[in-house]
Amino acid sequence: EKGGYDHFMLKEIYEQPRSIADCMRGRLDASSGRLVVGGLRDYMNKFQNAQRIIITACGTSWHAGLVAEYLFEEFARIPVEVEYASEFRYRNPVLNENDFVIAISQSGETADTLAAIELAKSKGATIFGVCNVVGSSIARATHAGSYTHAGPEIGVASTKAFTAQISVLTLMALKLGYQRGMIAETRYMELLHELETIPGKVERALQLNEQLIKIAEIYKDARNFLYLGRGYNFPVALEGALKLKEISYIHAEGYPAAEMKHGPIALIDEEMPVVFIATKDSSYEKVVSNIQEVKARKGKIIAVVTEGDTTVKNMADHVIEVPSTEEAFVPLISVVPLQLLSYHIAVMRGCNVDQPRNLAKSVTVE
Ligand code: F6R
Repeated sequence: EKGGYDHFMLKEIYEQPRSIADCMRGRLDASSGRLVVGGLRDYMNKFQNAQRIIITACGTSWHAGLVAEYLFEEFARIPVEVEYASEFRYRNPVLNENDFVIAISQSGETADTLAAIELAKSKGATIFGVCNVVGSSIARATHAGSYTHAGPEIGVASTKAFTAQISVLTLMALKLGYQRGMIAETRYMELLHELETIPGKVERALQLNEQLIKIAEIYKDARNFLYLGRGYNFPVALEGALKLKEISYIHAEGYPAAEMKHGPIALIDEEMPVVFIATKDSSYEKVVSNIQEVKARKGKIIAVVTEGDTTVKNMADHVIEVPSTEEAFVPLISVVPLQLLSYHIAVMRGCNVDQPRNLAKSVTVE
């Protein structure tokens, strides 16, 4: 049942080239410029004219929502708010018929997310679900939705569901942006073509496994980890930290790299591994200076970089090279080595990676 893998989590990490492709299948055909997000059809008008997009979710799904905030604002130019469902539902939020709410949930059973949906519905907003489990409570409670088609996710730590969520949200953002006239035809075609290359690039990122085993050996006994990224890689930093803490029980924090100097920098010493997601994108130069700041304080630097990078190579203790892609699509690739790193550290520490203590696959109580 684990298909020859030691754990479901590892199997699911390795399934990502296929699960991302499955998510895009039937929706995207770059050569003909065809992009169809089935669930959106009846609500495209509402979506296109929304004053605001509100994304609500918990945990890893909330991280996918943060990536989507960047995507929707960049491509569709509609303001986005990303809300923890547990906070949103109790805050008496300002909501109306012009708001388009997107609820993201792998299980489709998360109690807080379901309650946030009911609240938004009662205020007249349109609710769109991005769920993995077909026929789940959230899928049924929403007005419309798109499934992620990642297949069953058994490991408690979410991996392939996360990249499938981002894939669906990327398709939605591109469709919306194009329909609203915010993306020029040639640029749109370029983006669609690049999106089709993602499964192959994720496959290449998986080939980093041996290198990540070696890095895991070195840092498996660390007591703390810091994960830093900017822009599209900020949510990836949060997700990397969550993956590590939930399965290895090592304390880890994710931060936007620039926030480091407002507090976390005090934690840095020669014992502190700091994982930077420093791919070649619009914030690269800024991240490089953040790396220098950590180096000056003797922190151990593990950096996820774009293939061929030389600047960071000269500064970091370890560089993990991932294939280059459009800035907006980087999270789909840069999260993969972080999933593998967490997995190997947890295994080396003797942890039960598929069923970490105190956690359940779906959180049906608030
Ligand atoms: C982390 C994890 C949790 C879930 C969260 C939401 O690996 O699995 O943080 O992401 O409980 O669950 P869903 O997506 O089922 O609503």
